[in-house]
Amino acid sequence: MTSISLSSADASGLKADVVVVGITTGTGSTDGVALADGAQAVDAAFGGRLTGALGAVGATGKAGEVTTVPTMGALGAQAVIAVGLGRAGEVGDPEVLRQGAGAGIRAAAGHRRAVLALPIDGPATLRAVCEGALLGAYAYDRYRTTSQDGRPPVSKITVVSAERRAKDVLRRAEAVTRAVTLTRDLVNTPPSDLHPVEFAAVAVSLAEEAGISVEVLDERKLKRHGYGGILGVGAGAAHPPRLVHLRYAPSGARCRLGLVGKGITFDSGGLSLKPAQAMEDMKSDMAGGAAVLAATAAIGFLGLRIGVDAWLPMAENMPSGSAIRPSDVLTMYGGKRVEVLNTDAEGRLILGDALARASEDRPDYLLDVATLTGAQAVALGSRVAGVMANDDTFRTEVIAAAGRAGELMWPMPLPEELRTSLDSEIADLANIGDRYGGMLVAGLFLREFVGEGIPWAHLDIAGPAFNSGKPHGYTPKGGTGAAVRTLVELAESIADG
Ligand code: BES
Ligand code: MN
Ligand code: ZN
Repeated sequence: MTSISLSSADASGLKADVVVVGITTGTGSTDGVALADGAQAVDAAFGGRLTGALGAVGATGKAGEVTTVPTMGALGAQAVIAVGLGRAGEVGDPEVLRQGAGAGIRAAAGHRRAVLALPIDGPATLRAVCEGALLGAYAYDRYRTTSQDGRPPVSKITVVSAERRAKDVLRRAEAVTRAVTLTRDLVNTPPSDLHPVEFAAVAVSLAEEAGISVEVLDERKLKRHGYGGILGVGAGAAHPPRLVHLRYAPSGARCRLGLVGKGITFDSGGLSLKPAQAMEDMKSDMAGGAAVLAATAAIGFLGLRIGVDAWLPMAENMPSGSAIRPSDVLTMYGGKRVEVLNTDAEGRLILGDALARASEDRPDYLLDVATLTGAQAVALGSRVAGVMANDDTFRTEVIAAAGRAGELMWPMPLPEELRTSLDSEIADLANIGDRYGGMLVAGLFLREFVGEGIPWAHLDIAGPAFNSGKPHGYTPKGGTGAAVRTLVELAESIADG
């Protein structure tokens, strides 16, 4: 566990193994690298020669850049890590700082204590630096017997800040980053150790810790209440499916938010089996469920004044003699009949059940989060999530919350003309439609299960939930914790509004 604290002392005087400072590309196109606010004390300890040293080893100050120089005894610390913050005029962008703090702390791995002397000018930038640092100090080591390359994450972070009222900012940053790192852990856990029964048990213990009431529907209860989508998807697996309901109902809440998260603990495709390569990252197919779980707990820990009903359908999508077949018809929760033409379009089946059930709570807003379609990543790449909705205002609010939280999300339409592609020859609905616009078709399928008059939004995080590329900023390889920060931010803004 990494600890974080604030200090208003001079960065050059604090006990540390490394000091992280910010640099910019200067004010004009011909200027060299310039120091960002916060770096002056360190520069003074270098006798004013820090920019010269950095320039000599090629630092430019571009956002994303990380340059390490030894202190040669100029400071108590062994090294200064300079993170690029881009153009001098843009340094106030909290997300640039969040990424810079994350990249700096990642580069500091192998050292124990890091001091961050970054340009903090208020609560928003303080929050960003704390979040970025804590997110950058992440490592998933549950299955390692020796630390990889002997560079464990920084364990003690000190943020230099003279900000007053900083206690709440720090508490919020810790709660939110804890939720993100928990989501990453769950996503990174091998699927044999996080099957639906285990995932539900994790949800129960976390809910209890957060003081949130929780109920688990096992396969018998799912059958009794007619959750045909969840049971159908789970039918091929040795581990039975679950539906977890978390209910956070603080006194004085004027608004209730319904959340649903896709919890496919492994997606083999089922009988419509995926090719081997497409299966490699499919332990991450519960990332939406993990994000909803962790965010709901964070909302509880923070005591936000908003009611939350979170529904987490959990199943393992496996092929076997008991699995559903392409052309089988499922009776979903609420009675709609769905012809399953492709068992790999399983997320919408478990989410359909959960959305129908969540709608019965009559929430003021309903939001689902899912690694739903490969088409999402084809359309928006691996860092931007797609947001669809039956309500333009709500979709805009979700995207605005993402912007404030520093997550990349983009509006996507639900084109009416694609809806007929989901018509079935024999049932109410088929589970696949047009291949073109696959992300939107999946959204249209989900829309069928949302209760009349409920503003609903759907977040497809298939790309951003799992980083199979290189680490960057505060984002590690593997599970990223996508959507968690947006969910907490959205709950906060609804609670305040
Ligand atoms: N879990 C996958 C979507 C996915 C793909 C998430 C890649 C993350 C990375 C989902 O269940 C799926 O298999 N979707 C199919 C739908 C198709 C059969 C209509 C897809 O996207 O190919
Ligand atoms: Mn699938
Ligand atoms: Zn899936």
